[in-house]
Amino acid sequence: MRVDDIKKIAVLGAGAMGHGIAMVALLAGYNVVLRDINQEFVDKGVKAIRDDFEKFYVAKGELTEEELDKIMNEQLTTAVDMKDAASDIDFAIEAVPEIMKIKKEVFADLDKYAPKHAILASNTSNMSITEIAKATKREEKVVGTHFFNPPTIMRLVEVIKGEKTIEETMQVAVDLMKIFGKIPVRVEKDSPGFIANRVIASTIALLGAILDQKVAMPEEIDAMMKKFGQPMGPYELLDYVGLDVVYDGGIYFSKILYPDYAPAKAFETLVKDGHLGMKTGKGVYDWSRGRPKIDLSKSTDKLDPIDLMSVEINEGIKLVEEGVCTPKDVDIAMKYGYSRAKGPFEMAEDIPHDLLKDRLEKLAHKFNKKIFEPTETIKDGRLGELLKKAGYDEYAV
Ligand code: 3HC
Repeated sequence: MRVDDIKKIAVLGAGAMGHGIAMVALLAGYNVVLRDINQEFVDKGVKAIRDDFEKFYVAKGELTEEELDKIMNEQLTTAVDMKDAASDIDFAIEAVPEIMKIKKEVFADLDKYAPKHAILASNTSNMSITEIAKATKREEKVVGTHFFNPPTIMRLVEVIKGEKTIEETMQVAVDLMKIFGKIPVRVEKDSPGFIANRVIASTIALLGAILDQKVAMPEEIDAMMKKFGQPMGPYELLDYVGLDVVYDGGIYFSKILYPDYAPAKAFETLVKDGHLGMKTGKGVYDWSRGRPKIDLSKSTDKLDPIDLMSVEINEGIKLVEEGVCTPKDVDIAMKYGYSRAKGPFEMAEDIPHDLLKDRLEKLAHKFNKKIFEPTETIKDGRLGELLKKAGYDEYAV
């Protein structure tokens, strides 16, 4: 199969990511079928697609009302029944809740009804593509295509190879993401959180520990990081992504990687109370009147931006040590997936490595988390060597 053979794409799950991914495919000119488990969810997804097209495209003159009507009426169809959704597709992208059992049920169903040639992709944030593929009889045609929120804007898509995924499937997925206008990064080793979300897992653990230990208020940290240049504060971003996604990710990482990644009590309480962030109108912040206004004067000195950067650099190095990807891949993933001005390895060019080691040791001690301890590469003073080998400036310390 080649990318030119793709005419119709199914998007399974009409939520925050599903509706955005459907928009990307529609904008690229594909016929899209949006499927969810009941009509109410499907209708909500269609409304979200229309609202976002109106707000971000028609209002700015990037689409006319006529063009939008044409997209909505001629390119987009909907389904609740999987057979209706899958019977004539060439490519499917699943974006259902981050629970392995649900993912597997969806893939088993998709496999049953989708044509033999169709490629089945998962937008899972963290979970094993190899494991998801086992629910099908076409493991070689199952792949990860991990988008970032909002999918219309964020250019990164991680294309993940499961153990049985064949090169043809990888290539078609990469080519399709390029047609979508994305920057695909190939992830050849199926590892929890792939690249960007593995790096962020350490930040989330730190953000959770800060709340649980009442070290600083979310707004103080967000003001600090916005002043430092991030477009969204880190807590605001968690609300934007969805605290349920954050919570499920923490559970997954804590089981598969290390217990320290387990969701903080503060996040657990919010999720149990149904406060999932932007989508429910309340999370860490109140979103009922739109995006929270972060008061930059609240910026704290109880922590330093270097603390948040350090845990990301540390986690990025772990990925390289584990053979998941190269330093350049980590930087591309963080720049195009999380809107960072610089990737962790580019940041490491500017930070003295003994300072990095010192901050990490202090964080590990203060929050009693082993995952913040400096990696072997930092501990042994080999970060400069690693940077140099990967084509970066070696920091002379
Ligand atoms: N669709 C299309 N356009 C959008 C949009 C959307 N959903 N949201 C915002 N925009 C447009 C705005 O219209 C505006 O366009 P303009 O420049 O032409 O006026 C532009 O984006 C900037 O928007 P704003 O001025 O309102 O606000 P920001 O400058 O803060 O940009 C943002 C918004 C692009 C979302 C930016 O805040 C950002 O990059 N935030 C970080 C996002 C991020 O890190 N995402 C990753 C989440 S993690 C994830 O998805 C992984 C998963 O596995 C959990």
